[in-house]
Amino acid sequence: MHKLFLLLMNLVYADKYNLIVELKSSYSVIQVYENGPIRDLRINTRGTNTVESRMNMNNPLIPAVGYPNMMLVSLLWNPEPTDILVIGLGAAVLPRILRYYYPMTRIDIVEIDPNILRIAKEHFRFKTDPLMTVYINDARIFINSIKKTYDIILSDVYAEVDVGIPYHLRTLEYTHELKQRLKVETGVLLTHLQRNHNDYDSSRKIHEHVFKYNYEFVAKNCSFVILLSGFQSLTQSEMFERAAQLEQTKCFLFNLTYQVLKLEKQDLFDINAPILKDKITTPPQRLTLLPMIFVATVGFLTGCYYSQSITTKLFLHFNAASLSIIAHYRSTNGYCTQNQIVV
Ligand SMILES: *[C@@H]1O[C@H](CO)[C@@H](O)[C@H](O)[C@H]1NC(C)=O
Ligand SMILES: *[C@@H]1O[C@H](CO)[C@@H](O)[C@H](O)[C@H]1NC(C)=O
Repeated sequence: MHKLFLLLMNLVYADKYNLIVELKSSYSVIQVYENGPIRDLRINTRGTNTVESRMNMNNPLIPAVGYPNMMLVSLLWNPEPTDILVIGLGAAVLPRILRYYYPMTRIDIVEIDPNILRIAKEHFRFKTDPLMTVYINDARIFINSIKKTYDIILSDVYAEVDVGIPYHLRTLEYTHELKQRLKVETGVLLTHLQRNHNDYDSSRKIHEHVFKYNYEFVAKNCSFVILLSGFQSLTQSEMFERAAQLEQTKCFLFNLTYQVLKLEKQDLFDINAPILKDKITTPPQRLTLLPMIFVATVGFLTGCYYSQSITTKLFLHFNAASLSIIAHYRSTNGYCTQNQIVV
């Protein structure tokens, strides 16, 4: 009876998509599903199964799900970008499209999971080239390790459906760091947000705080939101004009004008949402004294080392203790992903 029930359920909920690859990585279980020419990259964590990217193998230059198209509105602000940063590789939908229309643009991609890169190459026809590099790194560490600036930064960093954007990638400080990596006056940052996530309101508020202009593009009956943040304003009619010009010169296979229709006219976020900040342990005042004490005692100790007196042994213990305290503060003084809400 039980088996019959399961069989019926399977028939009712038959997924036409077949699992073709499954790869366990340190971050999640990466799956590739196939349904005719449609191929999905899905992330499976604790039983959830989220479609991260979808590609039509017969038509790889047209995004097969809605939100990557919306990110292409960035081209309205920068029709001829020379430097683009993509945060989160997925099935490389955007790098593939951008490379096709902009063969001379430098495209940097940062992706934390080396297995995502492997899957993109093996199952989604992703190829790097001399002007397109994938950096396997945490986005924040990468951002802080570079000095260059970009015309466009595209950020899509959903870890998993119930976690959303990792905490350290949605704080006020990180948003400031991203802003510093944009070309002054012309750069734009595009962030994929989800309206039904509990981090939506605070992320929106942080961007309002950091950037002069913010525009939300929303797919109809969908919770995807693409937030464009930058230094320059455009009216919707200017957006339509630029989209028409660009479509004419670039012969896009996707409809950019249609994306402009998705511009949200009003702010729908909670203005009282908290502004999330990094939680950084501030070393106590006396810590600055410790290295001084350390240096002083080293001199003293070298002097009395040969005497092997009890004082020497006491100081050796003292030294070991201060060293470990310094080490402790150094290690906790970096990024911390624990939640700290500051209103
Ligand atoms: C979209 O949502 C509206 C109400 O919010 C509903 O009336 C409409 O039928 C929905 N459209 C689709 C295609 O689901
Ligand atoms: C693009 O979308 C707009 C708005 O929906 C529509 O008016 C236009 O005809 C579309 N263009 C093409 C080439 O499909």
